[in-house]
Amino acid sequence: MTDRSEPSPAIQDLIRRGEAARREGIGSRFAADPQRFATLSARLDDLLLDFSKTALGTEDMRALLDLANTAEVEGKRDAMFAGAAVNATEGRAVLHVALRGHVGDGFAVHGAPVGPAVEDVLQAMGQFSASVRDGTMTGATGKAFTDVVNIGIGGSDLGPAMATLALAPFHDGPKTHFVSNVDAAHIADTLRRLDPETTLFIVASKTFTTIETMTNAAAARAFVADALGEDAVAAHFVAVSTALDRVADFGIDATRVFGFWDWVGGRYSIWSAIGLPLMLAIGPENFRAFLNGARAMDRHFATAPAGENLPILFGLIGWWHRVAQGYGARAILPYDQRLARFPAYLQQLDMESNGKHVGLDGQRTPTATGPLVWGEPGTNGQHAFYQLLHQGTDTIPAEFILAANGHEPALSHHHDLLVANCLAQSEALMRGRSLSEARSQLLGKGVDPAEAERIAPHRQFDGDRPSITILHARLDPYTLGRLIALYEHRVFVEAQLFGINAFDQWGVELGKELATGLLPVVTGETDATGHDSSTAGLVAALHAMRN
Ligand code: F6P
Repeated sequence: MTDRSEPSPAIQDLIRRGEAARREGIGSRFAADPQRFATLSARLDDLLLDFSKTALGTEDMRALLDLANTAEVEGKRDAMFAGAAVNATEGRAVLHVALRGHVGDGFAVHGAPVGPAVEDVLQAMGQFSASVRDGTMTGATGKAFTDVVNIGIGGSDLGPAMATLALAPFHDGPKTHFVSNVDAAHIADTLRRLDPETTLFIVASKTFTTIETMTNAAAARAFVADALGEDAVAAHFVAVSTALDRVADFGIDATRVFGFWDWVGGRYSIWSAIGLPLMLAIGPENFRAFLNGARAMDRHFATAPAGENLPILFGLIGWWHRVAQGYGARAILPYDQRLARFPAYLQQLDMESNGKHVGLDGQRTPTATGPLVWGEPGTNGQHAFYQLLHQGTDTIPAEFILAANGHEPALSHHHDLLVANCLAQSEALMRGRSLSEARSQLLGKGVDPAEAERIAPHRQFDGDRPSITILHARLDPYTLGRLIALYEHRVFVEAQLFGINAFDQWGVELGKELATGLLPVVTGETDATGHDSSTAGLVAALHAMRN
């Protein structure tokens, strides 16, 4: 592989623009343009993307739209929607959009329509969910299921776990639990609270080889078999997978498997049968609304002009922050407690997709690629890490997500406080507080002038810290669908600008291979010969502590 090549002249120009914009700041742009919010915001119905509190100028946005044109973002989007093998390193189509399409939308892979098969699985999921929810499908002893445990990891866990929490106000089905970590604590703590007679397990794994999932599934199987007998196991397990042969080897009957396809990436699979625990919790109708929300965003992404296209604009701003302005991280700050798992979900979506240093041409990318993605819900984060966002030495663009309405009308005062805090944070990040303001504030409080001089620098904030706000009417299944699809397409747009394949994840393989090799060393079957002295030393110390 060659060294990183030079960025194109257009990218170099944008990097110069990014530096100039940083010097100019954000507040001064508002002062110069009273129409700034109107110009630098876009919406799809009630879903509003406000990017006016970034350092972007309208000329910069024009240059970014030119970049999108040069990178053929729209053409590549069309190729993805047309079922081309855009996952070039694995030779696969990428068609999660077909999972939320209608049969008439005509999605196809290699010319073969996929809509009917998608609809068949949705129907099967719907019937199964209805029978669990109304109690006609029971466990081996004839009792209705009160609890569902999803066993999966990564894309087979994060999506349904995040969305099930997000849509708590819509739950009217069995209680759902999620077990992902191979740490026995996770399954043990979950099973301890459950009755095997009334618990249904979903083993969710695209490949049905993932060690964590297989190990946890075996423990769950033993939990049922020990309590109710081996014959009871079949009635308490279903599987979600693309690998039907491996599911059969595990002992789950083909009639209890919900399939999906190799053109659905793990981190894009919430829309497939991987969404079964969500459907069980909120019901088939609400699940359809969730899919329809994503479809609305897909239609918008596929048809809206680039300058009004939310995913394209969102991707361009993400690229601007990462490459033109050189910011290495982005903070996801949902002012919504039920979106507590959304940052973790986006970590996989974004970092597993765009954490790559090799371009589609096999060369090192000419620019930085995906940033570090992290976050927590507000207002909790305000009392933890926001100090660094406001006064730390690094600038971290923040992405606020806010609903105009909560789900608790009797406690609407809480929601007003939540909203006020969210708006205050983006304003504070942008505005900052000058040294003279800090000084006058102290003097106004009657602080001694010498002391005010000493303290004022500590109370000064640079400001000009960028943020984006996504505002929507209320977090319901339809809006959650739109929100996730917005981020999915944003990741796609950024990948085209970076020139990388967003749909493979070879970087996670090495750790898995080494873990397999280290297991016999940990169990003492083999020694640590061939491992580095740190690894060997840690294994020796660990063995000593075990004895
Ligand atoms: O290790 C990464 C990964 O392959 C993810 O991409 C995927 O979502 C996760 O593991 C789980 O994979 P599976 O669904 O095949 O068990």
